[in-house]
Amino acid sequence: MLRFDGRTVLVTGGAGGQGSSHVRAYHAEGANVVIGGIDAGRGTALADELGDRARFVSLDVTDESSWSAAVQDTESAFGGLNVLVNNAGVQNPPALIEETDHATWSRILDVNLTGTFLGIKVAAPALRRAGGGAIVNIASVMGVGGTAHYAPYVASKWAVRGLTRTAALELGRDNIRVNTIHPGVIATPFIQEPAAGATAAIADFYSPEPFAVPRLGEPVDVTRLLLFLTSSDASFVTGSEYVIDGGLLLGPALQAA
Ligand SMILES: NC(=O)c1ccc[n+]([C@@H]2O[C@H](COP(=O)([O-])OP(=O)(O)OC[C@H]3O[C@@H](n4cnc5c(N)ncnc54)[C@H](O)[C@@H]3O)[C@@H](O)[C@H]2O)c1
Repeated sequence: MLRFDGRTVLVTGGAGGQGSSHVRAYHAEGANVVIGGIDAGRGTALADELGDRARFVSLDVTDESSWSAAVQDTESAFGGLNVLVNNAGVQNPPALIEETDHATWSRILDVNLTGTFLGIKVAAPALRRAGGGAIVNIASVMGVGGTAHYAPYVASKWAVRGLTRTAALELGRDNIRVNTIHPGVIATPFIQEPAAGATAAIADFYSPEPFAVPRLGEPVDVTRLLLFLTSSDASFVTGSEYVIDGGLLLGPALQAA
C-alpha cells in the first residue's frame, strides 16, 4: 500500500520547478494528481507523461471562478479532493520600496496572497466533503525576515503565515490541517531566470557557500517535507511553519581561522 493510494492532490503551479517535483512524487506514491496552472503546454505534457491518475486543469489562482471550475473538475474526475498545495508564486523585480510601483505591488500580492486565500476558500468545502485532508501553503524564508528590494514578495509571504494560522483554527474541527513550508533558495526557474521586469536572476548573485549546508536546495528537498506534512504521519501537525533552507536563516557558518 502506497502512502497516497486513493487520495487526490491538487498542486497549483504544478508544472513549475517545485510543483512538477511534487506532482511526480505524489503520483509515484499512488495519488491522483491534478496539475493546476496557467502553463497549459507544460501542464498537459506532464499529465500525458504520467498517464493514468494525472490531469491538467487550467487554473489562474487570482480568479475565483477559475478556482471553482478547477475544484469541480477535480471532484468529478477523481471523486473528491484530499490535499491542496498552494504552490503557485511570483516574485517582483528587485526595487526599493520607494521605487516599487503600485501595479507591481498588487500583482505580487494578488498571486501569492489572494491566490492562496481563494484556494483555501474554494477548496475547503471539497476537503470537508472528502472527510478532511490537508493544505500546505508554500511561503518562503523571505516570509520570516526582511529582504531589501523584495518588499511585495516578502509582505505576501509573511501574510500567508497569518492566513495559514487562521485557516488552521477555522478548519481543524473538520479534520483539515493547514501548514506552511518556507523554502530557502531552490534550484528552479524562479531563481535561474529573471523575474518579470527584472534583468538579473537571483542565481546570478546568490551563493550558498557561506551557509551550514553549502548547496542550493533541490525541488525534491521540499517535496519530501511536503509529502510528510500532507500524510497521515503528520496528523497532529497544524498551523505550523517549516523552514527548509540548508541553514540560510542561521546566517553564515563562520569557520575558525
Ligand atoms: N525557488 C526558490 O528559491 C523559492 C524559494 C522560496 C519560495 N519559493 C516559492 O515556491 C513556489 C514555487 O516556485 P518555484 O521555485 O517552483 O518557481 P517556478 O517559477 O518554477 O514555479 C512557479 C509556478 O507558479 C505558476 N504561476 C504563476 N502565476 C500563476 C497564477 N496566476 N496562477 C497559477 N499558477 C501561476 C507558474 O506558471 C509556475 O508554474 C512559489 O510559491 C515560490 O514563491 C521558491
